[in-house]
Amino acid sequence: MRIFLDSGDLDEVREAVSWGVVEGVTTNPTLIREAISRRPGADLAGYVEELLRAAGPGRPVSLEVMGTRSADMVREALRLYEGFNPVAGNVVVKVPVNTRGVEDGDLEGVRAIRELSSSGVPVNATLIMTPGQAALAALAGARYVSPFLGRVDDHVRSALGISFSKGDYLNVRSLRIWLESRAASGDRAAADVNSGILGGSELVAAIRRTFDVQGLRAEIIAASIRNPRQAEESLEAGAHVVTAPLGVILGMLRHPKTEEGVRIFAEDARRANYGELFGAK
Ligand code: E4P
Repeated sequence: MRIFLDSGDLDEVREAVSWGVVEGVTTNPTLIREAISRRPGADLAGYVEELLRAAGPGRPVSLEVMGTRSADMVREALRLYEGFNPVAGNVVVKVPVNTRGVEDGDLEGVRAIRELSSSGVPVNATLIMTPGQAALAALAGARYVSPFLGRVDDHVRSALGISFSKGDYLNVRSLRIWLESRAASGDRAAADVNSGILGGSELVAAIRRTFDVQGLRAEIIAASIRNPRQAEESLEAGAHVVTAPLGVILGMLRHPKTEEGVRIFAEDARRANYGELFGAK
């Protein structure tokens, strides 16, 4: 199990690396746009080099291509890998599993993943929403596949007309019970929402089972994580890596009873002159 930071912010990368438990970084064009907009005038290539140095050798940093045709994605990926990997030896190239929506090419992503992986470029197949996409990306040679848990949760809630805010936790177990009761009363649509995968953590579990049964070797990075429970559930479901924003990783540490316990122990230690154990006078 590993934890990566999902951020393009240099200060956040430095902070997270200093904790000693964050072993990689994932970015995307949106995260880079947000980070660079906080540094007017910054040179993007220089900024990315700083990001790679801040993560440091041995901590992979995923950098995404922008093209939607396989030839463009391969060319960009090679530029990223050959241009930036010498900085700290930690570049992984993120390639969408397919680009339908912008291009009419379902296979553009898979072709690019295949070509890059065959040339030894490590690929993180991104925007994975189904076990089938993950399997095809793994067959094409991706080193990592990134199921987007939060966006799957968004999709399921939108399909069901459930209102939500971006960070809201989706309780898939309760949702399944509710849908089963609707299906039992004859609501056929309720039985097949999102092909039966009702949330991001179920997607991770399905991908992990598929990979284990079929002997596929790509590592699963649970991405698009918006709250600590999603991170915990994806680890339980078999994600090899969870990538999450700084606030979510910090949130994994929090519990009111832990905080209350620390306050009480500190107070009782003071009353017991507990410091004497540590040489205090
Ligand atoms: C990670 O690899 C993704 O870029 C990121 O987690 C997307 O998160 P979002 O769906 O919250 O934007």
